[in-house]
Amino acid sequence: MTEVNAARDTKPETVQMTINGNSIETEKGKTVLEAARENDIEIPTLCYHPGLESIGACRLCLVEVAKSSRPGRKNLVTSCLFPVENGLIVDTQSNVVHQHRKIVLKLLIARVPDSDLIRQLATEYGVHESRYVEREDADKCIMCGICVRVCDAMGANALVTLSHGLDKYVDVPNKNACIGCLACALSCPTNAIPFEEVGDKRRIWGKEFDLIRCEVTGEPIGTPEQIEHIAKRSDLPIDSFLKSANARLKENAAESVGVKL
Ligand code: SF4
Ligand code: FES
Repeated sequence: MTEVNAARDTKPETVQMTINGNSIETEKGKTVLEAARENDIEIPTLCYHPGLESIGACRLCLVEVAKSSRPGRKNLVTSCLFPVENGLIVDTQSNVVHQHRKIVLKLLIARVPDSDLIRQLATEYGVHESRYVEREDADKCIMCGICVRVCDAMGANALVTLSHGLDKYVDVPNKNACIGCLACALSCPTNAIPFEEVGDKRRIWGKEFDLIRCEVTGEPIGTPEQIEHIAKRSDLPIDSFLKSANARLKENAAESVGVKL
C-alpha cells in the first residue's frame, strides 16, 4: 500500500459512550461538550468558543460523568475540557448538575445584573434572585476571557485582564495595539464591549478608527489598521481585502458564467 493510500484509509479512532442514556459514537480527542453538541444535546456554555482553546472559566457546562466499570462513582466535570473515552456515562441533566448550574447563575446574576443573557439563563434554571450582593458598579462582563483569546488569535494581542478576584476587568492598556477589528465585541457572549460606527468612523475601546468601505458595494469592510494587519498575516496584497464578501460573491458568480463585472 502506498503512503498516500495508507493515509486515505486511516480512519479516526472512535469511542463508544452514553449521554443521558443514549449510546453515541464519537471521535477520540473530542470533548464531552463537542460530542454532546454533535448529537444535538444542549449543554449551556459561556466561556466556550468553538474556534478557541477552552479554559473552563465559567463552569456552566458542568456535567456528571462515571465510567461503565464503576457507574455509581460520579464526578462533576467541565464538559468543555473533559475528553471523551470508551464506556463513559454522561448525565447532562441530573439534579446535581442542575443545582450546580443554579449556583453558577446566582453568582453571575449578582455580578452582571444587567445582562439579558444571564437573566434569560437564570430564568431557565428557575433562578429569580441571588442571595449574593449585586455589584453596584456592574457592567455586563462575566470574565469569560473570550475577547482576550480572540484578540490573541487575531494576532493583535491588545486585550489583557487586569486586577484580581471580583475587581478583575478587561482593558486595552496599549491603544496602539488595537486594530479596531471588532472581533472582541462581536464574540462577547454578553455584549459587554460597546462600539459604534457612525459615518466613516468606528469607535471602540476609547479609540477612533477610519472605516474603509467596499469599492464595489459601499459596505463597511474594516479599519485600515485591521486590513493592513490581516494582509500582512496572510501575506497577501492589501488590494485583495478591499472588496466585501458580497462583492466577491457577485464577481465569482458572474465569472462562472463568463461575465466580467
Ligand atoms: S468583555 Fe465579554 S468576552 Fe470579554 S471577558 Fe467580558 S464577557 Fe467575556
Ligand atoms: S463553557 Fe465550560 S467552563 Fe465555561
